[in-house]
Amino acid sequence: MKKVQISPSILSADFSKLSSEIKKLEEGGADMIHVDVMDGHFVPNLTIGPPVIKSLRSHTNLPFDVHLMISPVHKYIKNFSDAGADIITIHPEATDSLIDSINHIKNLKKKAGVSLNPDTKISTVEKYLDKIDLILIMSVYPGFGGQKFIPEVVSKIKTLNEIKKNKNLNFDIEVDGGINFENSKSVIEAGANILVSGTTIFKENSGDIKKNIETLKSI
Ligand code: DX5
Ligand code: ZN
Repeated sequence: MKKVQISPSILSADFSKLSSEIKKLEEGGADMIHVDVMDGHFVPNLTIGPPVIKSLRSHTNLPFDVHLMISPVHKYIKNFSDAGADIITIHPEATDSLIDSINHIKNLKKKAGVSLNPDTKISTVEKYLDKIDLILIMSVYPGFGGQKFIPEVVSKIKTLNEIKKNKNLNFDIEVDGGINFENSKSVIEAGANILVSGTTIFKENSGDIKKNIETLKSI
């Protein structure tokens, strides 16, 4: 089993001091930084784009795990790659050709991720799994931080992990949305090896980031 990694979402950070928030995440033991990019069209919320990612790039050596909730996504992939993204994750619904977008990300020498909404089936990506570096299982409907975890996704993670083992594949299984100290064990046991968390990391224990990351890792 792969060691569990934590990818804190800066959606819950104080946007007026992102560089020091990222420093705290790094010092607190984060393995990567999850960046939620929203366009007010694919999802009903707006966040940040390539210029902000570019400005933050020199403030940490941690990989940027960039979750693109934008449509159409294909024409913007290079902008995010150039800005310093290391993992670029897209939603199948946001591109005309999923395989073309995966290949585009791989040609840019970045890790290609595909995100599945709670109602998007594994069959959407099954034939491309050997080309994908990471599957991001959404445990909330994308758009906002602080939502409630949808427990039905645990069986989806289990199914995906079984397919992964049966086909002898090596992609990461990341879970995103409503992760807390209570439900993290269930997703890890189901096969997830990367946990995204915004609210729990920035708000629990009066915002003690280090303690919250350590707690999530030790479960
Ligand atoms: C939702 C985002 C998530 C979310 C995680 O659209 O993709 O990354 O902000 O935040 P919490 O942990 O607050 O659910
Ligand atoms: Zn996300």
